[in-house]
Amino acid sequence: MTTNPPIHIVPSTLSADFSRLGEDCAALETAGADRIQWDVMDGAFVPNITFGPDVIAASRPHTSLPFEVHLMVEGPEALASRYVDAGCELLIVHAEACVHLHRTLEQIHGLGAAAGVALNPSTPATAVAQVLDLTDMVLVMTVNPGFGGQKYIATMEPKIAEVRRMIEESGRHIDLEVDGGIGAGTVAGAAAAGANVFVAGSAVFGHPEGLAAAVAELRSLAEAARAS
Ligand code: DX5
Repeated sequence: MTTNPPIHIVPSTLSADFSRLGEDCAALETAGADRIQWDVMDGAFVPNITFGPDVIAASRPHTSLPFEVHLMVEGPEALASRYVDAGCELLIVHAEACVHLHRTLEQIHGLGAAAGVALNPSTPATAVAQVLDLTDMVLVMTVNPGFGGQKYIATMEPKIAEVRRMIEESGRHIDLEVDGGIGAGTVAGAAAAGANVFVAGSAVFGHPEGLAAAVAELRSLAEAARAS
């Protein structure tokens, strides 16, 4: 990797205590997280349902950390403004859910938010080739979306490397995020392949030594893998 983008650790609230989301967001800030990801699911694009915009808005006052929202929904265009109003500054849409992805990314920027594109495991890296000029982050899913606690799909690592090459060839500052099964045993492989932003839910909230230890461990393992 010719560039050296900063390592960001982004816990997902999907593994938080849903009865204490505000408090858990505050705890993630204390623990040293770089920002917080909200996994929004509509029961149609993925077989699960999670957070509406009002739930996120209720947690917004509890932390100063930036919020990103991973919209695992059909037709994210219809909901985008609601999540910006709820306090999310980065909106991630799935290429598979957007008939007009180029227009959707323009819409997100028009709302004053940054735009990310997520790719399911079976979607090729080339799906973002024509929209990198409108993309602030590419999310390579390392599980099939819908649930936390799933097994990391290591065969995504060549795709991570391909997306990193595409980003470098573009000459643009675009983050490369991975999400799904990221933990102490998998973060190094994803980092070595080219990821610089790491989403983790169960590995953070389930860490035996607590949130701060989990965030620090992921960060140091990712940095060490990139340095090697
Ligand atoms: C899947 C979700 C999960 C979540 C992280 O739809 O996107 O990947 O963010 O879950 P863990 O870290 O528990 O695999």
